[in-house]
Amino acid sequence: MLYEIIKYPDPVLEKVAEPVTRFDDELAKLVDDMFESMYTAEGIGLAAPQINISKRLTVIDTSFQKNPDDKVVLINPEIVSREGSQYEEEGCLSLPDVRDKVKRAAWVKVRAQNIKGEFFEIEGTELLARAFQHEIDHLDGILFFQHLSRLKKDLTMRSIRKRIKNGDW
Ligand code: NI
Repeated sequence: MLYEIIKYPDPVLEKVAEPVTRFDDELAKLVDDMFESMYTAEGIGLAAPQINISKRLTVIDTSFQKNPDDKVVLINPEIVSREGSQYEEEGCLSLPDVRDKVKRAAWVKVRAQNIKGEFFEIEGTELLARAFQHEIDHLDGILFFQHLSRLKKDLTMRSIRKRIKNGDW
């Protein structure tokens, strides 16, 4: 099943999501549907609040279907360690055609649960590290443009408001 991707300024995107507590077939189906919805929308990461499900769950595939080993499911994830910094461009399925450079840690270690509820740790650098930080932010109700300078954030919000008004959103 394909989910519709929720766009800013829907309030679900700015809510702190609830932990996942049931690790059942329904969760496995949701994860499959999230990957399918993400690929259809041509994204490399999708967090459950972006499909109007306020739960701490995100799927990531930085290879975009090229390498099945790159499919990552993070349930109730937490960044437990971070190092260095990187400054690269990001986009977001909930903010169509909005792109800007965001400062992120260069390396992060994430502790999360898999679809069976088992805990694991995963590390990432470069794009994967950015995806971890961007997607985990979604679970805390944070969109990437909220990391920009006050000026850039205001310009971005003004352009979004204009696009919404013009029906171009
Ligand atoms: Ni996003």
